[in-house]
Amino acid sequence: MTTVKSGRLLVVGGYGAVGATVAAALVDWFPGRVVVAGRDAARALRLGGVRVDVTDPDGFRRTLDGLGDVAVVVMCVEPPDAGIAHACFERGVHLVDIGATRRLLDGVAELDGLAAAGGATAVLSVGVAPGLTNLLARRAHEAVGGAERIDLTVLLGAGERHGADAVRWTVEGLAEPATARPLRVELPGHGPRTAYPFPFSDQHTLPRTLGTVQVTTRLCLDSGPLTGTLFALRRAARHPAVRQALTAVLRRVHAGGDGFAVRADARRGDLHAAYALTGRAQSRVTGLVAAYVTRELLTGSLPVGVHHIEGLAALARLPEALAEHGVALQRLGGPPEG
Ligand SMILES: NC(=O)c1ccc[n+]([C@@H]2O[C@H](COP(=O)([O-])OP(=O)(O)OC[C@H]3O[C@@H](n4cnc5c(N)ncnc54)[C@H](OP(=O)(O)O)[C@@H]3O)[C@@H](O)[C@H]2O)c1
Repeated sequence: MTTVKSGRLLVVGGYGAVGATVAAALVDWFPGRVVVAGRDAARALRLGGVRVDVTDPDGFRRTLDGLGDVAVVVMCVEPPDAGIAHACFERGVHLVDIGATRRLLDGVAELDGLAAAGGATAVLSVGVAPGLTNLLARRAHEAVGGAERIDLTVLLGAGERHGADAVRWTVEGLAEPATARPLRVELPGHGPRTAYPFPFSDQHTLPRTLGTVQVTTRLCLDSGPLTGTLFALRRAARHPAVRQALTAVLRRVHAGGDGFAVRADARRGDLHAAYALTGRAQSRVTGLVAAYVTRELLTGSLPVGVHHIEGLAALARLPEALAEHGVALQRLGGPPEG
């Protein structure tokens, strides 16, 4: 029988769009052990949680010490730097992080030695993108016997009510210069779409974890006209005032559905393999991925140190596990599976 580590599960951002799903799933599996946290003290306390501000690592240390028996912190909001991870690892507290910003994930990865020394495990690249994209990339990479190039495509539903922090992240990403060309891609359930290069962290970590030189992640929305408008504003989005206006519009306009799709194409010479996943409500599915990862971590099956999700064999079948939540995995082509 699997033994599950004891201690509390601190879900930071636990009443946000992603965090609420994480907290609900973990409460089901680990009743009485989940503590929800955010900056709104009244809201957190109503949920039996605590006030936490991730921009204040010293305050976070005091919270961890006050709670005393935190086994794992699930980060469902992006902190400004690796200070929160540092506070966790110093105390041997495990970490699951849904962050999607390369600089932040690189900062946490640099703390690998500290995490390992304290017996802590951290899982990064947790969610839909990064997360499921990393897992599909690994499958496609293996299907061609080691990819020379991987193209990842993410389609998000413009009708979904994405959380404030996710909208902030998307608008900031729009302001970054494009590093590759747009691509026309067939996405199951959505048909052919033009997707544009977007700074998801997966394309920066995969070259290191898989050894594939060229990885590009592209984004589109389910609404073609909205995708075109958004990316036409790319240059203008370098101005803070434009980003502010765009954030306000994206938080109010919900044109489209809540379906999402991700696809990974791997190529080596003439060989090509592709996998896709479709589902509804990316915030919910991101939360489910984080909850599954946390449960696996608590069984003690994951090694200590800092890992991206695609480096952990115990999590390789996570896409199949999500079938019960309406997430459909498809192999779109490639050499026969070995
Ligand atoms: N890997 C993936 O596939 C994936 C997918 C979706 C989202 N994400 C990332 O997940 C994050 C959350 O997205 P979301 O859609 O859930 O956003 P959200 O709905 O805005 O949720 C953020 C939560 O964090 C709390 N929070 C905000 N600032 C905080 C701070 N300084 N200290 C403590 N808590 C704070 C918020 O509550 P208060 O404002 O009351 O504090 C809220 O509960 C984003 O960074 C996004 O980029 C990743």
